[in-house]
Amino acid sequence: MPRALVLNGPNLNRLGLREPGIYGRVTLAEIEAQVRAHGARHGIEIDTLQSNHEGALIDAIHAAADTADGIVLNAGAYTHTSVALRDAIASVAVPVVEVHLSNIHAREAFRHQSFIAPVALGQIAGFGAQGYLLALDALRAHWSERSRAADSG
Ligand code: DQA
Repeated sequence: MPRALVLNGPNLNRLGLREPGIYGRVTLAEIEAQVRAHGARHGIEIDTLQSNHEGALIDAIHAAADTADGIVLNAGAYTHTSVALRDAIASVAVPVVEVHLSNIHAREAFRHQSFIAPVALGQIAGFGAQGYLLALDALRAHWSERSRAADSG
């Protein structure tokens, strides 16, 4: 059974309370439950982790190299600042889908740049909690494309 790590960065533990006009009222626990249910529907094992610490997120990405087939990553504000997180992703072969609840491109200019995007499969932004499920679907599509290519190669 494929395994995906759903990794959330700084301040995402405050979802539900934090700037609800931007991020809505959904909590991280609710999002993780939705992702687990979506995983169960499609035969994907889901691991979840949230940390406010850049190094812990980097350690989780390194560990995922041996334990996960894909990562759904909302790096929060580290998206816009962390070369170290980008380098961690580049150091592993695990595909990463970048997620943001809000449409970062429609917000302040400092949110328009992502250090993650160039090393991710792609980016999903602006669809709220649904974005995490779309990211899992993107990983599923990537896995089946990859195994089709392996079968025909
Ligand atoms: C966010 C967008 C980031 O700019 C912000 O710093 C966050 C949340 C999102 O999910 O929309 O913490 O990643």
